[in-house]
Amino acid sequence: MRFPFEAKLKNGSAITIVQAERRDMPALRRLYDVIVKEGTSFPHDRLPTVEECDQYWFHGKSTVAAYPAATQADAAMLGAFYLKPNWPGRARHVANAGFIVAPGCRNTGLGWLLGATMLQYAKDLGYRSVIFNLVFSENHVARRLWTKLGFRELAAIPGAVRKDDGSYQDALIMWRSLMEV
Ligand SMILES: CC(C)(COP(=O)(O)OP(=O)(O)OC[C@H]1O[C@@H](n2cnc3c(N)ncnc32)[C@H](O)[C@@H]1OP(=O)(O)O)[C@@H](O)C(=O)NCCC(=O)NCCS
Repeated sequence: MRFPFEAKLKNGSAITIVQAERRDMPALRRLYDVIVKEGTSFPHDRLPTVEECDQYWFHGKSTVAAYPAATQADAAMLGAFYLKPNWPGRARHVANAGFIVAPGCRNTGLGWLLGATMLQYAKDLGYRSVIFNLVFSENHVARRLWTKLGFRELAAIPGAVRKDDGSYQDALIMWRSLMEV
């Protein structure tokens, strides 16, 4: 898989998919702030500090980001994913990934494109399968997208996620093999 590359979304807009580096941190953090405030997909309940964000999004990870094509430095990030081993050593061939798409860019195929890119990139990096270990059960868009990309739901972790109203929702563990990618 070669980065950067260009692609088109369903609405015709051109985007560039790049390997993200620490210089992408401000744009990523601005987007992640929106996701954290939504509170419906990732476990953070406040925006992580720059150092925490660095650990969560960059340290030991392969991170990929989408920007509008032909934009200047410091453009708004449209979406991103990180890819990392879910465990070390004997189980490091099982990858884990996390995805975010900016609200204004959703439902235009970017989530699918980033997901498909992740599968090929993970395969190229030598991973044998991918696990998502905290898919919020009420995140129906994500569950549907991952199912469309070949993931299956292995189990539910009861009450894993605290919601804003103080109640709890389950989290799903989803997995797919990379053997046939
Ligand atoms: C989940 C997420 C990455 C999907 O990104 P996206 O760019 O909207 O995905 P796509 O446009 O490729 O759409 C995926 C599918 O969901 C559907 N969909 C997207 N948004 C939808 C919405 N608001 N309501 C109903 N369906 C929706 C699309 O129609 C598409 O299905 P289709 O191709 O059969 O029509 C994005 O919603 C997001 O960033 N959410 C917050 C973070 C998150 O949930 N991350 C994943 C954690 S497991």
